[in-house]
Amino acid sequence: MERSTTAREGAVRRALVFALNFVKHPRMVGTFAVSSPALVRRLLDPTRWSGVGLGLELGPGVGTITGAMLARMRPDARLLAIEMNRDFVAELGRQFPDPRLQVAHGSAADLQLHLRQAGFEGADLVVSGIPFSTMPPAIRDRTLDAVASALRPAGTFLVYQYSAKVLPHLVRRFGEVEREREWRNLVPVHVFRCRAPLAGP
Ligand SMILES: C[S@@+](CC[C@H](N)C(=O)[O-])C[C@H]1O[C@@H](n2cnc3c(N)ncnc32)[C@H](O)[C@@H]1O
Repeated sequence: MERSTTAREGAVRRALVFALNFVKHPRMVGTFAVSSPALVRRLLDPTRWSGVGLGLELGPGVGTITGAMLARMRPDARLLAIEMNRDFVAELGRQFPDPRLQVAHGSAADLQLHLRQAGFEGADLVVSGIPFSTMPPAIRDRTLDAVASALRPAGTFLVYQYSAKVLPHLVRRFGEVEREREWRNLVPVHVFRCRAPLAGP
């Protein structure tokens, strides 16, 4: 009982930290509510987790998807999460004392640098919720190029977005792009499952 009250308090605090940061930085955060459980399941359930040695998360926010990824990952797997917002980085550190997780404060556009600094090479899975449609096109292109060259040939890039504007930019960089929608989210979301990167590590 005491444990579930603490868990509820933690969830409420994280929802508040997220919403307040949306008010402060609407373009960076992109939405006022964290991803729904239905979106998290749609994104993560089809993945073959036994094949994921290194996962990357771009824009983890307060960790809604991060926790679900860690719960599915192998004990020897690693997860590198890159987040631009300092409050969210602090929240992630508080929430996940998991040795498999490393959180980098910075931009996903510098993905290669963060990978090198962490001592990692190609990733098996990249999950991204960063708002590609509202960021400057040069940053969007740099980020997508970096993902395509960091992803292993058999890897998957999962993208969730409130707009489908990023689609042509994905098609240019990945041989296979599947489209889905998740309606059970405060704002319905587009999900893109990208495979066969046209540039490799
Ligand atoms: C739509 S929120 C997703 C938050 C969380 N993953 C979730 O599902 O609830 C987008 C996140 O991307 C972060 N972000 C935006 N641009 C970024 C960038 N260029 N590099 C890294 N993080 C970024 C924001 O700070 C925010 O945490």
